[in-house]
Amino acid sequence: MVDSGLTSQVDYVLSTARSVRRKLDFETPVSRQDIEACIDVAVQAPTGLAGENWRFVVITDPELKAKIAAIYRDVLVQLSESRDVTLKPGHHALMARLHEIPCMIMVFSLGEPDVDTSAQLAFYGSILPAAWSLMLAMRARGIGTTWTTLLSSRSDEIRELLGIPEGVTQTVMLPAAYTKDANLKKAERKPASEVTYWNGWQNNA
Ligand SMILES: Cc1cc2nc3c(=O)[nH]c(=O)nc-3n(C[C@H](O)[C@H](O)[C@H](O)COP(=O)(O)O)c2cc1C
Repeated sequence: MVDSGLTSQVDYVLSTARSVRRKLDFETPVSRQDIEACIDVAVQAPTGLAGENWRFVVITDPELKAKIAAIYRDVLVQLSESRDVTLKPGHHALMARLHEIPCMIMVFSLGEPDVDTSAQLAFYGSILPAAWSLMLAMRARGIGTTWTTLLSSRSDEIRELLGIPEGVTQTVMLPAAYTKDANLKKAERKPASEVTYWNGWQNNA
């Protein structure tokens, strides 16, 4: 039995979980209760061999946030200069105020990825669905986030700052704040008919 109310609500959340870099309430802390509720949802994600290797580090300490924001800024500026990438206003907006974000949630996995591609797929496939569920759970509670991976290029510094043990892998960092007047809409994407093949590569029939 299809519950059309549930379907439309889930589809709405999935389709509007945009990167939110502006229209964030930088003054109001994100409640611990909300964060824990979102993480409880996130850990329902699939995990290879029931590993449950996820660990979440929530950063609210102003000094730590300032240090992490400085690293983030550094990486993004270097990236834009070295690759001649033009940053969008939203990237600048988040970069400029990242130290003020009420909290940063960093998602780690126990273990390290293997060189073997299939093992890498299993490794990241056991952690990133949980991170995405976390982002969706926050979206459903009016908490805006952005999927960010830039900090992984400076994971040694993050390891030292947060006391992350060796053998633990850093993945995404989700800056989180309640949204303020954010009108989140579906993104422009190619439709299923253009990106889906049937019974073989490039078969549309
Ligand atoms: C692998 C990956 C890494 C990303 N890293 C960053 C990042 O470090 N900083 C950032 O502002 N956005 C980052 N993004 C977000 C994208 O720039 C983009 O906003 C998002 O994928 C699309 O969401 P939108 O349509 O709501 O913008 C990343 C996205 C992906 C998939």
